[in-house]
Amino acid sequence: MSANDRANFGSKLGVILASAGSAVGLGNIWRFPSELGSNGGAAFLLVYLLCIMFLGLPVMVSEFLIGRRSQANTATAYQKLAPGSKWHYVGLMGVFSAFLILSYYVVVAGWTLEYTVASVTNSFTDGTDYTKFFGDFVSNPWKSSLYVVLFMLLTHVVIVRGVTDGIERFSKVMMPLLLFIICILVICAFSMPGASEGLNFLLKPDFSKVTTKVVLSAMGQAFFSMSLGMGCLCTYASYFGRDTNLLRTAGSVAAIDTMVAVMAGIIIFPAVYSVPGLSVDAGPSLVFVTLPNVFNIAFHNAPVLGYVFSVMFYVLLVLAALTSTISLHEVVTAYISERFKLARKTGAYVVTISCTVLGILCSLSFGVLKGFTLFDMGLFDLFDFVSAKFLMPLSGMLIAIFTGWYLERKIVFDEVTNYGSIRMPLFKLYIFLLKYFAPIAIMSIFINELVK
Ligand code: PHE
Repeated sequence: MSANDRANFGSKLGVILASAGSAVGLGNIWRFPSELGSNGGAAFLLVYLLCIMFLGLPVMVSEFLIGRRSQANTATAYQKLAPGSKWHYVGLMGVFSAFLILSYYVVVAGWTLEYTVASVTNSFTDGTDYTKFFGDFVSNPWKSSLYVVLFMLLTHVVIVRGVTDGIERFSKVMMPLLLFIICILVICAFSMPGASEGLNFLLKPDFSKVTTKVVLSAMGQAFFSMSLGMGCLCTYASYFGRDTNLLRTAGSVAAIDTMVAVMAGIIIFPAVYSVPGLSVDAGPSLVFVTLPNVFNIAFHNAPVLGYVFSVMFYVLLVLAALTSTISLHEVVTAYISERFKLARKTGAYVVTISCTVLGILCSLSFGVLKGFTLFDMGLFDLFDFVSAKFLMPLSGMLIAIFTGWYLERKIVFDEVTNYGSIRMPLFKLYIFLLKYFAPIAIMSIFINELVK
């Protein structure tokens, strides 16, 4: 396929909403509050914001420029920009990690679908033991597999429609809907009895809580949340037009992503503080074990409101997860169909079928396959470890080194300034961050995650 007949996002809004769709996901609504809760609240938020600005943004711009310059899937992109070198392994690593991440991310995505169904059918009643509810669900092989299949099918339906009619069109519907729902939920959160306590926890920093563990967790979270190091944004950028302002797009995506994470905190912490006995540092089970009934209890005087609130919350999770699974799927589909010269539809089927099988195996690691471990980890944890904690920071660091040290400075300048037509006063700072700050910072997350 030549660069000219390559698919393209049709509009600037499409570019921003699709990229923001990739970034905004379970990472914002599920992982961010639990990380913030277990890392001391507002102090974590502050460090997180610094990481987004000085680490996430430069790497995001780099992914954008690699994708847009090469007009190719992630693996081919490096081959085009650095022919004859080993850099294409970085791209291949991205494709491989996207494949692994999709296979376990879809398991949690499936849980959000199940919880949506449970909240719509009003199954969250007073007195339910949610730890048991969650445990029973994740260990039920049929149910959890069914939801993996359903979620992969939803993702597939969007992907086979293509870049413009699928990804862009759906992002343009799903993202505004997601932002609308989250705004409503934020407004409702202010009326909860625990609102001021929850907001205090989120917004009033206690600097004595900033430890190296907090800094490193915040960096890891920024990375995950912005979908970096996985080829997602690089693949999407290969569909950007020549006139797309890469820096501004990265700024908008980072702003939306951060806003959604903070808003998720504004919803969740007041809810948790509204029910006595619940803890903000419940970790990953916060959303699935602590929250189901929180809305009903917090709104016990207005049960309808509690019902609407919890349905909206889980629909929000589904939408967020879906726009991210779409982007992960696209990385692999673009690679397979371009590399093996397959029709896009065929490529998409290959990815859907193989990820569904792996996804089911991952979901079974909470039940019948619990005993099957490699390096002491079940399949789900192993995939999470290898991709999110190993391959992702590694390729992020290499991307920074590639753009900062290897790529010709003129190429970087031309892409970031659209051949000199956009002013870029911070270019030197950008290069400095890529050359020195990002590699060193990412290396430290990396080592931290490995020795944990
Ligand atoms: N950024 C997504 C989230 O916050 C997760 C993701 C990571 C998606 C990497 C694509 C690539 O949930």
